[in-house]
Amino acid sequence: MTTAQHRIGSGFGATTTAADVLEGRDLSGTLAVVTGGYSGLGLETTRALAGAGARVVVPARRPEVAKAALGGLAEVDELDLGDLDSVRGFAERFRESGRRIDFLIGSAAIMACPEARVGPGWEAQFATNHLGHFALVNRLWPSIAPGARVVSVSSRGHHFSGIRWDDLWFEQGYDKWQAYGQAKTANALFALRLDELGGPFGVRSFSVHPGSILTPLQRHLSLEEKIANGWVDERGEPIADWFKSPQQGAATQVWAATSPALDGMGGVYCEDCDIAEPASGEPLPSGPGRPAMYTGVRDWAVDRAQAARLWELSAGLTGVDAFSPAPLR
Ligand SMILES: NC(=O)c1ccc[n+]([C@@H]2O[C@H](COP(=O)([O-])OP(=O)(O)OC[C@H]3O[C@@H](n4cnc5c(N)ncnc54)[C@H](OP(=O)(O)O)[C@@H]3O)[C@@H](O)[C@H]2O)c1
Repeated sequence: MTTAQHRIGSGFGATTTAADVLEGRDLSGTLAVVTGGYSGLGLETTRALAGAGARVVVPARRPEVAKAALGGLAEVDELDLGDLDSVRGFAERFRESGRRIDFLIGSAAIMACPEARVGPGWEAQFATNHLGHFALVNRLWPSIAPGARVVSVSSRGHHFSGIRWDDLWFEQGYDKWQAYGQAKTANALFALRLDELGGPFGVRSFSVHPGSILTPLQRHLSLEEKIANGWVDERGEPIADWFKSPQQGAATQVWAATSPALDGMGGVYCEDCDIAEPASGEPLPSGPGRPAMYTGVRDWAVDRAQAARLWELSAGLTGVDAFSPAPLR
């Protein structure tokens, strides 16, 4: 059942697009749910899956914006991942439809926002990016078909922080990048544990880092910060040529959701359309026109004991655990 956290030589790479991954594939008769499926990488994921014949459902916190972006490509419903009542409402509507999910891709996220609290005072990045998806997948579990895959979109940002077991909510001082890092580590640990629990039911799970792509995700960063990072010029125009396009950025999540090369596997963290290697903890040195950057997956994001602990914690916080004898509260 356990899949080694090592490259498999998929034949794809950093420049592969979502359309490349699905070339020659016919996904007619399948159904995908893509959170955030109307912006950035989620939008390209929706386009690629729909282009291959899948029916796509996009739960959106701004349904009118989603409908305008998708133009009929996908079915739009309402979902705010920062509001557990909204998560429950969407899941109940979906379950009542009687349909089965073949691909569930959690692409929605917020990144490096100013300190914000949701629900009972939960730090917003952990609550939205992790707890919202945790509740969503657990509530949708009865609708997830045997043979389905769940993809949790993590990030190389997970290198910034493991789970801060002694100060989960940043009560001792907020750091926007550590908060993003913790949430993205949680996304990877969630996929690891979900794969252990769901695998016996034929449902496999993966986490992915999509690459670096200029999208609305960077909306909370100032122009000064983006200039200092070497991403854009004074007019906000992109200057870095090492960014992926959104079509390339969507490729790894589409690959993880659909590739036959991953049949029988699960729980692993992927990047550049392959399983990632364990990371040393040292960033890859800078290259021509490219800053030093992290690759691979840190030990704290593939730690089974922490994955199980996070699952228990998340089940307690959200009041839902599809794998417990009393699954829903
Ligand atoms: N772009 C990158 O370089 C990069 C790198 C590493 C990892 N990632 C990961 O890739 C994923 C996709 O990012 P992206 O670049 O495509 O970002 P994006 O264009 O900003 O898309 C994020 C989506 O999440 C939605 N969302 C945010 N908060 C939500 C909430 N409370 N409830 C429901 N939906 C919510 C947004 O909806 P609204 O538009 O309504 O706000 C948007 O549709 C994220 O998980 C991100 O962490 C991206």
